[in-house]
Amino acid sequence: MNHLHSRTNGCVKGFAVANLTPVIDWRQMSQTSTSNETGAHGPTRTVAAIGVVGAGTMGAGIAELALTKGFRVALYDVSPEQLAKAQAGIARNLEKLGAKGKLSADPADLLMHFVGVTDLHGLAGADVVIEAAPERLDLKKSLFSQLETMCPRAILATNTSTLLVSAIAGGLADPSRVVGMHFFNPAQVLPLVEVIRGEETSEEAVAVVAQLSRDLGKTPVVCQDTPGFIVNRVARPFYGEALRLLGERVADAPTIDAIMRGVGFRMGPFELMDLIGLDVNFASTVSVYEAFFHDPKYRPHPIQARMVAAGRLGRKTGKGFYEYGEEQSERLAPEVSLEFAERISTRILAMLINEAVSALADGVADARTIDTAMKLGTNYPRGPLLWASELGLPRVLAVLTELHEEYGEDRYRPHPLLRRVVKAGEPSFYQE
Ligand SMILES: NC(=O)c1ccc[n+]([C@@H]2O[C@H](COP(=O)([O-])OP(=O)(O)OC[C@H]3O[C@@H](n4cnc5c(N)ncnc54)[C@H](O)[C@@H]3O)[C@@H](O)[C@H]2O)c1
Repeated sequence: MNHLHSRTNGCVKGFAVANLTPVIDWRQMSQTSTSNETGAHGPTRTVAAIGVVGAGTMGAGIAELALTKGFRVALYDVSPEQLAKAQAGIARNLEKLGAKGKLSADPADLLMHFVGVTDLHGLAGADVVIEAAPERLDLKKSLFSQLETMCPRAILATNTSTLLVSAIAGGLADPSRVVGMHFFNPAQVLPLVEVIRGEETSEEAVAVVAQLSRDLGKTPVVCQDTPGFIVNRVARPFYGEALRLLGERVADAPTIDAIMRGVGFRMGPFELMDLIGLDVNFASTVSVYEAFFHDPKYRPHPIQARMVAAGRLGRKTGKGFYEYGEEQSERLAPEVSLEFAERISTRILAMLINEAVSALADGVADARTIDTAMKLGTNYPRGPLLWASELGLPRVLAVLTELHEEYGEDRYRPHPLLRRVVKAGEPSFYQE
């Protein structure tokens, strides 16, 4: 159906339902330059020198990765101690990689192209600067306003997880140079980079950073500047719905984890929260909830808040949903019927799919890009939108409709795009 055409017709006829159908069809999204996996335009400059701001977990990881791929790297931190620690760690890691034969050059040669600086001016020659300083808007804004004048040639990328790229770029003389480049932890290992197009970001900045991601051995996914980007947003129900089920005493954590492993997830939601850290996962939940102005579907669960307050942060504190170290907790899931397991898994999957549909409808990225991001960013066995077709879109809609009727809560409302696609008899969110 041509939506633009039906909309015009709707206007002539009056306020027909077709009036409310979005002008941009989700199927057209991958054909537009608004969003795709790889960056719409070819890069227009060569990147040889990378500046990294912040020598903590992410900055050190990104600097090390860039060195292993043959880039010149300047790493900056306000703290000389932190910088020295990061430099020593990187040198050690390169030695280890070299000893295992995993480097294309001698570690000593790669380290010749590495410098640590405690003055931002030291990044002046960079083609791209990647900022990985603490997650505070005021701090990042101040850094970018300095970088803008100190690095006149550079594309300025931020590794923010939760702030809007447009907010970081806001107020600069030239915000078009600022782009999101969101790595996942550990940056040396995880294969995904979300490339985020802010309100003013230039196509050149998107293309350069997408190509740089590829040169660093990553798969870039280009997305719009919306809360949680793709991965941190679409993944929310995997945890949120599991917490709901636990909170309502429908099943305990080992049972839910075993059921979700049974449908192909490498780890269940509670095991994964323990690995990520309950504090980190809770902070992500809160940031998406707040950024969406308290939309109830993103509301954190009191269990998360209670466990964080009690210091049960998961593996790193020895206790989370499970116990670690000497007191390993029993992980035996009780025997459950196939029907019960299917009810649990389809409920969590349907919520995950509904959120992926919501991101698709909001134009965050096209269907293939969303699925790629979820597979590479969270290690899901399949992308949620492809999974939706395999389950059958009418079945997903039926599960959500039943939950919505049972609870009467907005959180379970099937997304209008899902309803429309089912009504049109479309089998998939993919074009072919
Ligand atoms: N840790 C993760 O899992 C992860 C994943 C993806 C993105 N991120 C994002 O990456 C960024 C950095 O996170 P992190 O976990 O590496 O933090 P971190 O606390 O490990 O490191 C931050 C570093 O920045 C330095 N710093 C403080 N003020 C600074 C300033 N004014 N200028 C330069 N450096 C300064 C600190 O000394 C520290 O070394 C954040 O925006 C975070 O949201 C983190």
